[in-house]
Amino acid sequence: MAKILVTGGTGFIGSHTVVELQKQGFEVVIVDNLSNSSIDVLSGIEKITGKRPIFENVDCVDYVSMDRLFEKHSNIAAIIHFAASKAVGESVDKPLLYYRNNLVSVINLLQLMPIHKVDNFVFSSSCTVYGQPDVLPVTEDAPIKVALSPYGNTKQIGEEIICDTLRSNPGTQSIILRYFNPIGAHASAEIGELPNGVPNNLLPFVTQTAIGLRKQLQVYGNDYDTPDGSCIRDYIHVVDLAKAHVIAVQRMLDKKTKNQVETFNLGTGRGLSVLEIIDTFEKVNEVKVPHKIVARREGDIEKVWADPSYANNELGWIATETLEETLRSAWAWELNLAKRTKAEA
Ligand code: UD1
Repeated sequence: MAKILVTGGTGFIGSHTVVELQKQGFEVVIVDNLSNSSIDVLSGIEKITGKRPIFENVDCVDYVSMDRLFEKHSNIAAIIHFAASKAVGESVDKPLLYYRNNLVSVINLLQLMPIHKVDNFVFSSSCTVYGQPDVLPVTEDAPIKVALSPYGNTKQIGEEIICDTLRSNPGTQSIILRYFNPIGAHASAEIGELPNGVPNNLLPFVTQTAIGLRKQLQVYGNDYDTPDGSCIRDYIHVVDLAKAHVIAVQRMLDKKTKNQVETFNLGTGRGLSVLEIIDTFEKVNEVKVPHKIVARREGDIEKVWADPSYANNELGWIATETLEETLRSAWAWELNLAKRTKAEA
């Protein structure tokens, strides 16, 4: 079966994708520098799939080490490139860290592809490229807006670098996946979101508050032009998202792509407010999430949700998990983590 190189494969979306790839029989080589993930994730993947993926502790920014890695693991059929820094606020304080991590890695991989005869590249992009869209739900051909953060800019520039590079190399192809807001965890609760330090994203903050690790969740603003005043996003189960990557890889291997670079929105098509998420989380898990409304967070978009019909029609992919199940899985993962931490103490 084809061998897939997964950069950032011990991260949140990466680990769930590795599980889905292994379930479909792909051989996986993970490359990750563990800067924002734990080696224990490999055991979680092994528990779920019965197979421990090959793991290389390498930083994708290090060209020489990556070159060696491709020598060692020959015949890579496709690369799925997740490895990146993703904290919007941090990217404002440390722009060069973001430009280096998120763009040098892309450049290295694209440069190494022809040398090691790898033709297929899947790129983790983000709905952040749309900024605040003029029309909702947002489609793939919506205008790309000026990025509000260096992080957002790295995703826009990353997409451009891929398009320019592939154009100069006709035998290669790429699928760019623009994620909306991935949440939830694998149904086994063996893998999930594991942020370092204080979480930036909503769901890990919700679960950590519910379990008592954080005193109170801050809701960033209730004066937006939305029905309840809080921001609206398209929250998608991470396993649904992971499955789209397997389909994207298979599509390239089967040579079913229609353009050298294809771009897909990965979302549910449903917009939900921060307050709706908190409310549903409390109801389905029968747990309280102490929260208070505070000022808006700088750089937040008011509302965005996907038109996923292009991915639905072309990839035959659809997000199937319900919000309730997704929020249950996030809570089950937090509970399992707490159990593990207690057992280790
Ligand atoms: C943003 C980007 C996304 C990127 C992600 C990386 C947009 C539209 N989205 O996601 O592309 O991949 O960062 O981290 O640019 N919230 C609270 N309290 C909290 C945390 C969050 O109220 O403690 C609210 C936010 O204001 C927002 C929503 O929850 O309305 C989701 O926030 P978050 O999970 O951080 O994701 P985005 O900012 O949407």
